[in-house]
Amino acid sequence: MAKEVNTIGVLTSGGDAPGMNAAIRAVVRKSIANGKKVKGIMKGYQGLLNEEIFDMSPRDVSDTIQRGGTILRTARCEEFKTPEGQKKGAEVCKKYGIDGLVVIGGDGSYKGAQALSANGINTIGLPGTIDLDIACTDYTIGFDTAVNTAMQAIDKVRDTSSSHERCSIIEVMGRNAGYIALWCGVANGAEDILLPEKYEFNEQDIINNIINNRKKGKTHHIIINAEGIGHSTSMARRIEAATGVETRATILGYMQRGGSPTCTDRFHASMMGAYAADLLCQGKSNRVVGWKDGTYKDFDIDEALAMQKNIPEYQYEVSRLLSI
Ligand code: ADP
Ligand code: F6P
Repeated sequence: MAKEVNTIGVLTSGGDAPGMNAAIRAVVRKSIANGKKVKGIMKGYQGLLNEEIFDMSPRDVSDTIQRGGTILRTARCEEFKTPEGQKKGAEVCKKYGIDGLVVIGGDGSYKGAQALSANGINTIGLPGTIDLDIACTDYTIGFDTAVNTAMQAIDKVRDTSSSHERCSIIEVMGRNAGYIALWCGVANGAEDILLPEKYEFNEQDIINNIINNRKKGKTHHIIINAEGIGHSTSMARRIEAATGVETRATILGYMQRGGSPTCTDRFHASMMGAYAADLLCQGKSNRVVGWKDGTYKDFDIDEALAMQKNIPEYQYEVSRLLSI
């Protein structure tokens, strides 16, 4: 049975991602345009439990679309993984009159959203993560900015790597997912791309590749290493010892999570934020918004969490082929 909502809450949870502010802005403004009240919740589920809740007007999101990070801040909250924490979260929502909620985050945050739905709060998830590792969507808020930030940094490392005829290992984010590494690997013309989903920990293959490339006349060797593979600095030492080629490691780290969002991230985040507000206004709950087959769609959270996502085999094959 569709339930009419009157007050829509919005929070960001888990790792931040560029474009989250554009999504918040769209949730606020579309909800208000639909005749609803809006409340912002600070610091994710932790802020909900701590009742860090405030009324939001269209002016509260002025001058935010171009800003990285999240104006609502974000947090991780262990208490919210417990049934007691989730029940308390639903009670706090009811206390503040929040009968609809938009949660912007990754898979972990969706599990919290699922629990709130089960506790009577209509909840919609938006895919906010730079990792692109949400199965029901081909796009996640922040991925485009993150790969562009990383790509530009890697171009710079490549310049100095070529000057010195060095091998460079560049570590990008993605503890469990190699999408950033794959995209940068292709876009930066890397000689080796190490993805958590594919890497078989055979360093000898990399060493052989470096030696063969030297023989072919290549003056640099770029290895993109996803964070999930780990230990780029010690890998650099081992590779240098085995090949005799000077090797340096660069860990890009949190710079990939910050910065002004790209046009793509601002656009999709705006559409998805508006879409989430509309779903709540239609009485929907326990849904996540995705970009699939060139259009915005929504999926049941339980089904979305059960979906699997893999590195597309063709993309992986081409990425290897282009580095000859
Ligand atoms: P992401 O949302 O980016 O995947 P996390 O996995 O860290 O990030 O999850 C963010 C937050 O979502 C957690 O700190 C916790 O508050 C909540 N969460 C994660 N897993 C669950 C769960 N199984 N049940 C309820 N809430 C959860
Ligand atoms: O936002 C995703 C991500 O950057 C992952 O690639 C990484 O493993 C994780 O967040 C690290 O985040 P934190 O250090 O904030 O836990």
